[in-house]
Amino acid sequence: MSYTVIQTEVHDRVGLIRINRPKTLNAINSTVMRELVQALEAFDADSAIGAMVITGDERAFAAGADIKEMVDASAVDMLLADNIGTWDRIRNIKKPLIAAVSGWALGGGNELAMSCDMIIASETAKFGQPEINIGIIPGAGGTQRLTKAVGKAIAMEVVLNNRTISAEEAYRFGLVNRVVPVEVYLDQALELANELAARAPLAIRMGKEMVNHAFESFLADGIADERRSFYYLFSSEDQKEGMKAFIEKRDPEWKGR
Ligand code: CAA
Repeated sequence: MSYTVIQTEVHDRVGLIRINRPKTLNAINSTVMRELVQALEAFDADSAIGAMVITGDERAFAAGADIKEMVDASAVDMLLADNIGTWDRIRNIKKPLIAAVSGWALGGGNELAMSCDMIIASETAKFGQPEINIGIIPGAGGTQRLTKAVGKAIAMEVVLNNRTISAEEAYRFGLVNRVVPVEVYLDQALELANELAARAPLAIRMGKEMVNHAFESFLADGIADERRSFYYLFSSEDQKEGMKAFIEKRDPEWKGR
């Protein structure tokens, strides 16, 4: 299959997917979402592959959903397009998924990393949910998965006050599995993925399902509520102002309406 905004490679028994929009810090537009899910499903169906790694580049894993694509959208546009709905298919991937994160993992980027089963972070990784800066909230699971991973107090600071979590903090909070030098973060992720790919496939599949069961009980309701609130905010003046201000590189003027 040929892709336009991602690249795929095979390393032994591991399928590697690189998000490839470096000029936008790998911002996730609807094409990235669609191609990423297609590539994951293709690797999931390939018996020569036992695990997958998702990565960006050294500067950014992904700096969030593409603000330029959403700036003029109404709540109804967002609801009808339901781009985030595409990501529900990531939850159906059976093989282990590892995020190899360097640099920014913000907004939808952090949400994508948290949708994976494990995260290998470079020392330069920075995690956050900066949606509050542009007048919205996370919409792809951030309020739910982050809270479960790091607890309420830290999640509140991240979601409400744009606190960024460093790689070392992310390890301490239980958000990531390992922090390694930037030179080796991708190799280490591939090595871990190859270890998983060599293990008993059915037991790996059941183990993943069961850990997710423990983590995700009640998650589906929270995700659906979050998505509705996220789409709803696109009927506000603050969303338009926040996103325009980001694009025009100025401070927003909030109206609370
Ligand atoms: N969408 C679209 N374009 C983006 C982007 C995004 N999320 N993040 C960065 N870019 C673009 C910038 O507009 C800029 O493009 P130009 O060169 O054309 O101006 C380019 O990438 C480089 O970015 P900066 O010049 O801003 O780089 P920086 O080093 O000064 O700052 C940054 C880096 C702090 C990550 C900053 O780019 C930033 O704050 N980005 C936005 C982060 C954000 O708000 N993410 C959440 C998006 S909403 C979301 O994800 C919702 C959801 O839950 C699904």
